[in-house]
Amino acid sequence: MSKISAAITGVSGYVPDYILTNQELETMVETNDEWIVTRTGIKERRILKKEGEGTSYIVNQAVRDLLQKTNTSPEEVELIIVATTTPDMVFPATANLVANETGLVNAFGYDLQAACSGFLFALSTGAKYIESGRYKKVIIAGADKMSSIINYEDRTTCIIFGDGGGAVMLEPNTEGFGIIDEVLKSDGSGAPFLHMKAGGSRRPATHETVANKEHYAYQEGTTVFKFAVKGMADVAAEVMERNQLTGDDVAWLVPHQANKRIIDATSSRMNIGSDKVMINIDRYGNTTSGTLPLCLWDYENQLRKGDNIILAAFGGGFTWGSIYLKWAYDPQ
Ligand code: UT7
Repeated sequence: MSKISAAITGVSGYVPDYILTNQELETMVETNDEWIVTRTGIKERRILKKEGEGTSYIVNQAVRDLLQKTNTSPEEVELIIVATTTPDMVFPATANLVANETGLVNAFGYDLQAACSGFLFALSTGAKYIESGRYKKVIIAGADKMSSIINYEDRTTCIIFGDGGGAVMLEPNTEGFGIIDEVLKSDGSGAPFLHMKAGGSRRPATHETVANKEHYAYQEGTTVFKFAVKGMADVAAEVMERNQLTGDDVAWLVPHQANKRIIDATSSRMNIGSDKVMINIDRYGNTTSGTLPLCLWDYENQLRKGDNIILAAFGGGFTWGSIYLKWAYDPQ
């Protein structure tokens, strides 16, 4: 029997309607459009303003669209993994809420948290179910409502993050398309530089934690930047080397959208031109687990069967990694 690989057979995405521009941020904190664009590449980001809606709202839209695009009935889906750092609730898992709301009645589901590398780690996890031969339809979603943990008085973080996400369908492939290789890493010694101080079991919510604004993302940007530039480029280069790929062999780099300068460092290390790099940071900012599926969604029409694609991410934890896959379909 030929080897089973896990191929992406469809992509969808969702971003909320509300656009928070750099100009609007200028009225909220001491910042300016020129600083934000030069230092990060971001011009605007989306914010989910719907009262009482969390990350599941984003994933629900993406999953419904994915089912339609791939001509899949909800009953056929066997598993959904939602990568997110901003689940609707501590429990139950956002995946369970989504499965219930989108009619995935035969699927089991769970969330996976690896900050900005969440989608990458979830894609790797989902692929193993397919490669085992036991599962045929697995949905991997990555989404975050970052606005729920951002302090809009802190100019060092509020300019970066946005809300949004996407989903992919994974199915078995025996023709050599799909996920080929991966390099995934984590290092908990990076935790102090990017984390949320309170709200977990170590420091549950109290009046004091709220008053101290400890329920927001805390980041030491320059330190994270240094690790990200090296980490993301290292793993992308390693996965290419292991598979004897040169820059010319790579059709697309799909990089986590945290900072345009980190993306440029990675593509230059891979020796690929900017025309092969997926970019939407200018429009969506950093949507954490949402960036990679949103890139695939935006660029889906330009992808061709057989394209060599390198995904790469770096984020809180620290977590980072790169996945090499061969795209499995031409535009519809
Ligand atoms: O996706 C998860 C992983 N996260 C990342 O990969 C993010 C990595 N870090 C970064 O992208 C960058 O470090 C930031 C965009 C967060 C910050 O850029 P930076 O070039 O590292 O700036 P900085 O923190 O070194 O600050 C430089 C200056 C400072 O002023 P002084 O001390 O030089 O006078 C800041 O106070 O810029 C100032 N500054 C701002 N000025 C205008 C910081 N934030 C702002 C702002 N607007 N929003």
